[in-house]
Amino acid sequence: LKVLSVASEIYPLVKTGGLADVVGALPAALVPHGIEMRTLVPGYPAVMGGLEKAEPVHHFDHLFGGPARLLAAEAAGLKLFVIEAGHLYDRPGGPYVGPNGLDWEDNAVRFAALGAVGSGLGLGLVPAFVPDTVHAHDWQAGLTPAYLHYSGGRRPGSVMTIHNIAFQGKFDAELAPVLGFPADAFSIHGIEYYGTVGYLKAGLKFADRITTVSPGYAGEILLPEGGMGLEGLLNDRSSVVSGILNGLDTAAWNPATDPLIAARFDTRRMKARAANKVELQRRFGLDPDPDALLFGVVSRLSWQKGLDLIADNIGTLLGLGAQMALLGTGDPDLAGRFAGAAQAHPGRIGVWLGYDEAVAHLVQAGADALLVPSRFEPCGLTQLSALRYGALPVVARVGGLADTVIDVNEMARSVGVGTGVQFSPVTPSALHLALNRTHRLWQDKVLWKKLQRNAMATDVSWERAARDYDRLFRDLVAERGA
Ligand code: ADP
Ligand code: GLC
Repeated sequence: LKVLSVASEIYPLVKTGGLADVVGALPAALVPHGIEMRTLVPGYPAVMGGLEKAEPVHHFDHLFGGPARLLAAEAAGLKLFVIEAGHLYDRPGGPYVGPNGLDWEDNAVRFAALGAVGSGLGLGLVPAFVPDTVHAHDWQAGLTPAYLHYSGGRRPGSVMTIHNIAFQGKFDAELAPVLGFPADAFSIHGIEYYGTVGYLKAGLKFADRITTVSPGYAGEILLPEGGMGLEGLLNDRSSVVSGILNGLDTAAWNPATDPLIAARFDTRRMKARAANKVELQRRFGLDPDPDALLFGVVSRLSWQKGLDLIADNIGTLLGLGAQMALLGTGDPDLAGRFAGAAQAHPGRIGVWLGYDEAVAHLVQAGADALLVPSRFEPCGLTQLSALRYGALPVVARVGGLADTVIDVNEMARSVGVGTGVQFSPVTPSALHLALNRTHRLWQDKVLWKKLQRNAMATDVSWERAARDYDRLFRDLVAERGA
């Protein structure tokens, strides 16, 4: 079975969040199921620079404003198709924003090109790889199922995966004619969305299957608060909506072999873990105190992640004699609040503003608990690494966080299955209570060790997800073949 994955980022070449991790890990996870997945990505400088092998397989005279080539390429064990289009992708900055931090003005055509080429590949543009199914990720790839639909011919099945419904890719209606759809496509039954062109809307409208990255979030997006405007469409299509929980790259995130941490450990060598706490405290300027409960944070600093709740609870942490090591980048206001807290409370609050894979690994290996107070969370990957590294996740009871962490309530304790702490609602006072509850658990050293072992025994691998995607792709092929 051949599947073309269409995405705007892929680890390790280009990453702004968990989307890249998932897109990068899925192809290998599907190999044991006999699925050959290739991924189509834009040729940003970071992608072009990382290619190990590349050969042109198609030439476009005009791809949204300039000539372009399609490359069949390999990098870091991944099989790729890359759109080499200088006028769209060859520029400094991020995949979505320029060096000034603002969205690229031509994002509409940059990602229309991704969708159009994805559809072209789906329809047989490269005879050596004609996919049975096309799998589009998030709004950037959202036009792919729409282009396939309007091609009118025999087409492969399509799957649209929502990693984050907050980002919908809405663009000026005046663009509609430029995109190459028939005139009548710009309607509520097509790509139109509240007077704009809606890329994610288009994908959700025309994909044969819709998935999101946890069962919990699959339920939440059907509700007005969770659907963010798309709940009506999703409810109409609810029979094809499902949630498939993400896995974690358990080779990259393996405490027994991780070269990025101070000391390697596993459930049989837990004493070694302490050296990571010592190193984490050193790197973050925290007091070298093994008994202080050390909370870690690894996160984008954004409203979604609820980090303002943590900023509101600095007093709680200090009152408990706890420490915090926060690694994050994003919103300047939040960054300022945390930097201020670190300055006011050296030795207790340590803050690292930036993006750093190695530090992220050290936080997971050295922290006693990981805070994830998200307002919504489609899946979340940091709590999965935390489980694997024995940092007990303290999470908001939403989306994928609720699906992956087992709250240590009384009954969970009675059967010995807890792996972390959940709290609800997502408010500063509920987090305050959760921090207190975590601190009480911390005081019972025997219990804490048991919880750590439970957490580390959680199956966070891709195997479960791969089985679910395999079934989804095969059902779809069977349905379309019939
Ligand atoms: P999201 O994609 O919404 O940001 P996820 O939890 O799915 O959230 O994925 C976040 C990914 O980015 C994880 O792999 C996490 O380790 C990584 N990450 C987030 N912030 C940082 C940072 N400041 N430095 C290094 N890695 C980070
Ligand atoms: C998005 C979500 C996150 C999810 C990731 C990968 O970035 O915010 O919850 O884990 O996609 O699916």
